[in-house]
Amino acid sequence: VSKVEIKLLDIPEGKNMTFKWRGKPLFVRHRTQDEINREGAVNLAELRDPQHDLERVKKPEWLILIGVCTHLGCVPIAGAGEFGGYYCPCHGSHYDLSGRIRKGPAPLNLEIPYYEFTSDDLVVVG
Ligand code: FES
Repeated sequence: VSKVEIKLLDIPEGKNMTFKWRGKPLFVRHRTQDEINREGAVNLAELRDPQHDLERVKKPEWLILIGVCTHLGCVPIAGAGEFGGYYCPCHGSHYDLSGRIRKGPAPLNLEIPYYEFTSDDLVVVG
């Protein structure tokens, strides 16, 4: 399947759900306002792959990522790690709640797929 449609009403605030898209895990996180504020305030000078949170989302409450570690391709664990986002157990990469690499060997932020909101509660990825 080249596109996947996700019903956002099924994902409570503060929760991550994992879907499958083109054979890869797809992470969809419903971020809280506190999480949005925190990620928006991160100093870009501290980042290995500097990107502002706003460059990584279309709607701040929805973080949509490909769940493949940019180090060697393991699947990170949602809601884990020192930055509250994702933790890759293979070699210890920590990602924040914008999917940005913060600590560990991974060189790049988690990839963001192409997606569109087709209504208030539906997103189509791909
Ligand atoms: Fe994720 Fe190495 S594959 S840290």
